[in-house]
Amino acid sequence: MRKPFALANWKMAMTIAETISFIRKFLPLVEGLAEEVDIVICPPFTALYVASLELKGSRVQLGAQNLHSGPGQAWTGEISAQLLVDVGCEWVMLGHWERRRNFGENDELVNRKVRAAFEAGLRPILLVGEPADYSGELENFLGRQLEALTQGCSAEEIERAVFVYEPEGAIGVERPASPEHIGKGCAILRERLREKFGAAAEKVRIIYGGSVSPEFAPAILSLPDVDGLGATRKGRDPEAFASLVKSISQWKCAWAKRG
Ligand code: PGA
Repeated sequence: MRKPFALANWKMAMTIAETISFIRKFLPLVEGLAEEVDIVICPPFTALYVASLELKGSRVQLGAQNLHSGPGQAWTGEISAQLLVDVGCEWVMLGHWERRRNFGENDELVNRKVRAAFEAGLRPILLVGEPADYSGELENFLGRQLEALTQGCSAEEIERAVFVYEPEGAIGVERPASPEHIGKGCAILRERLREKFGAAAEKVRIIYGGSVSPEFAPAILSLPDVDGLGATRKGRDPEAFASLVKSISQWKCAWAKRG
């Protein structure tokens, strides 16, 4: 069984006070659930330290939203994988559409960041998905993207990564992509992982992100290749995010127990 996964990407929001308040409300709401669902919160850099202190003793894990791949330290204003480990991160998100669109990140650069993350012992959360205006075959786009992002990675490393299928057009809108679209995208990713990494593909978590909210969760979580959900707007609200974690646990853990 793959351990289900829940991701909150807070983007450029949440002050230190809001971070403390979120975590103090959220932890009691997910008590017991963090054993069966990997829950990862990705605050902005400025709130990582306080989040790491607040999360101590809980099973909820900490991630960052980006890193710089180096080499060396002469990169004023950037954050390295080593500094993220130092502040208590286990995870780092890489390749979000907002970084691709606004900061010109391409697959090659994201791949360098993936390598830097693994080398420092961080686990990458890799965002993949087609651009909003894409009209070609999904297989071709996702296949090429996955190949480029995982260049130089071993099967053992890939098992430790999480993929978020997040089509650009589904970010920050009213509803997620359709279950058919999500099912197809995630199945393509799983198949490509199988072709490249063999049995390790069955252990890799693939989650869906993009306008996720509790009302849409069951239809997405009933898809066999979807192992969890990622959210920003609903990931900043402790009740809504806890409700997503509960859905993930109900759908994915109950299903696995039924065999
Ligand atoms: P959203 O953002 O959940 O607010 O749609 C998702 C994302 O950009 O990762």
